[in-house]
Amino acid sequence: MSTFFAFLFWFATAVIILGLAFKIRQYWATPAPLKIPTTPAPTTKSGVVYRMAKEVIVFESLFKSNKWIWLFGWMFHFSLFLVLARHIRYFQEQPWFWVNIIQPFGKYAAFGMVIGLLGLLARRIVVDRVRYISSPSDYLMLIMLIFIGISGLMMQLVLHTDIIAVKEFFLAWMGFSIAELPDSFPLMVHLSLVALLMIVFPFSKLLHAPGVFFSPTRNQVDNPREQRHISDWAAKLETENKG
Ligand code: HEM
Ligand code: HEM
Repeated sequence: MSTFFAFLFWFATAVIILGLAFKIRQYWATPAPLKIPTTPAPTTKSGVVYRMAKEVIVFESLFKSNKWIWLFGWMFHFSLFLVLARHIRYFQEQPWFWVNIIQPFGKYAAFGMVIGLLGLLARRIVVDRVRYISSPSDYLMLIMLIFIGISGLMMQLVLHTDIIAVKEFFLAWMGFSIAELPDSFPLMVHLSLVALLMIVFPFSKLLHAPGVFFSPTRNQVDNPREQRHISDWAAKLETENKG
């Protein structure tokens, strides 16, 4: 079993790293021929950084458009952030001091994560116009994350797992060797779903995480009057035509 999980995670790690690198390169190289920031938009670069930070940290535009989705969506994402930060301890011999500080909060974040996800799932089922546009992958994504959260909570509260052994397994795994994983059903479920999450990440809607930074409506400076906007390929064509 330990060997199986070690190979599964090496594979999943390769998929997520290479997949994300490929996608981000593709986003990077995609031309944005038009100036299309959603106005009112910042007129300076630092203004854009501030706007993007608000978008990523507090989901500003979602807040303006729908308070219920914002509440559940933000609760899920913020809790996920805390949970993931708390997990860093499995991968470091001596975790960073801030990882130790957030441990107690991270513990409760699991509830925020699952409640947020259940709210988002209810919305897909209850709200007619959202149900109409929901595809199986929309539901499956939420269900996968809910089961990751529930299996994590099971380990934390009901069927305790030897987390020191889990840590030793992953420390060894990072050095390309295989240690023993504790024999625990919720841990098997948790790790299988996490590997699945990592494998589907670069092929799914989860790409919104890197994608938001490449969104022209959010990342452009509103300065078309001061500076002519011309994408690289168009600039090249222009010089060729002149020549
Ligand atoms: C830069 C980081 C991220 C930002 C700014 C972000 C932001 C958002 C926003 C604004 C939504 C839209 C909510 C809606 O209108 O339905 C959303 C949806 C979603 N996000 Fe993220 N996200 C990030 C990272 C992640 C990550 C790492 C995951 C999972 C591992 C994730 C999972 C989801 C899921 C499953 C939904 C769909 C919820 C639904 O069913 O509507 N997000 N995200
Ligand atoms: C290889 C990666 C991962 C490992 C080794 C791992 C392992 C664990 C372990 C051992 C626990 C039990 C903690 C305890 O008993 O106190 C746990 C809890 C949990 N895990 Fe994971 N996990 C991983 C990835 C993830 C991911 C990607 C997510 C979210 C999408 C997640 C969400 C949770 C949650 C919500 C809990 C319960 C709250 C907590 O203890 O932090 N895990 N995980």
